[in-house]
Amino acid sequence: MLVSAKEMLEKAKAGHYAVGQFNINNLEWTKSILLTAEELKSPVILGVSEGAGKYMTGYKTVVGMVNGMMEELGITVPVALHLDHGSYEGCLKCVEAGFSSIMFDGSHYPIEENIEKTKELVKIANEHGMSLEAEVGSIGGEEDGVIGRGECADPDECKAIADLGVTMLAAGIGNIHGKYPANWEGLSFETLAAVSEKVGNMPLVLHGGTGIPADQIKKAISLGVSKINVNTECQLSFAEATRKYIEAGKDLEGKGFDPRKLLAPGAEAIKATVKEKMELFGSVGKA
Ligand code: G3H
Ligand code: ZN
Repeated sequence: MLVSAKEMLEKAKAGHYAVGQFNINNLEWTKSILLTAEELKSPVILGVSEGAGKYMTGYKTVVGMVNGMMEELGITVPVALHLDHGSYEGCLKCVEAGFSSIMFDGSHYPIEENIEKTKELVKIANEHGMSLEAEVGSIGGEEDGVIGRGECADPDECKAIADLGVTMLAAGIGNIHGKYPANWEGLSFETLAAVSEKVGNMPLVLHGGTGIPADQIKKAISLGVSKINVNTECQLSFAEATRKYIEAGKDLEGKGFDPRKLLAPGAEAIKATVKEKMELFGSVGKA
């Protein structure tokens, strides 16, 4: 059964580790992530961007696939199905469809409007026993059409949003979606420490988890990050493994063109990436 992310993140914050959010795109992604979480006895959050939701036909299809898969794979670890970078309307659709968690990304609105809309969604999420993530400042780069300017969050604005009763808070701290450029200056721990001090026990979310060096991940966790989002890195490992398979001509041998064979190396590569991240985040054995 899907669960809200609240309990798993509060435990993570208290236990000084982070739960990974891994974005899904299709059946292979979902299955690889669920099987890895179960094998490592780790809680996990399945992230669905609005674009990926559309690609998978719609949110109801996603809920049906995830619920069916969890039952048939015998998944026992806590799993939250979470809308990633949602609009106000997208959040309402996911509440309706049966997600267990939503993110309202109001970071591109003036802060007053972000507060107003987040406040309404806190009420709705609470009525449905769902967790709600909000965002202040913004994540640089582009993810599925969501473009961020990348400015660091204002700690007072973070407190204003946290006080509305959201479950977790994503604060821009110099993090970027996609690959980090060679001249990236690293995470702003100064901002993270200031935000952390303002919001107390609120679990903080680190977006743009692809390619952040391990020492910065560990430091971020020590300063209150309890949820780390990873998307691009699974896409890169899937693409690389699939390319190797095709370039080696494996799709031309026997029944190598069968999608069940063709997509298998990519699915295995996603498992390896998720495992590496869960070990780094410290969530292994915490289910
Ligand atoms: O919301 C999802 C993430 O922030 C993923 O970022 O694609 O850089 O790993 P990433
Ligand atoms: Zn993100």
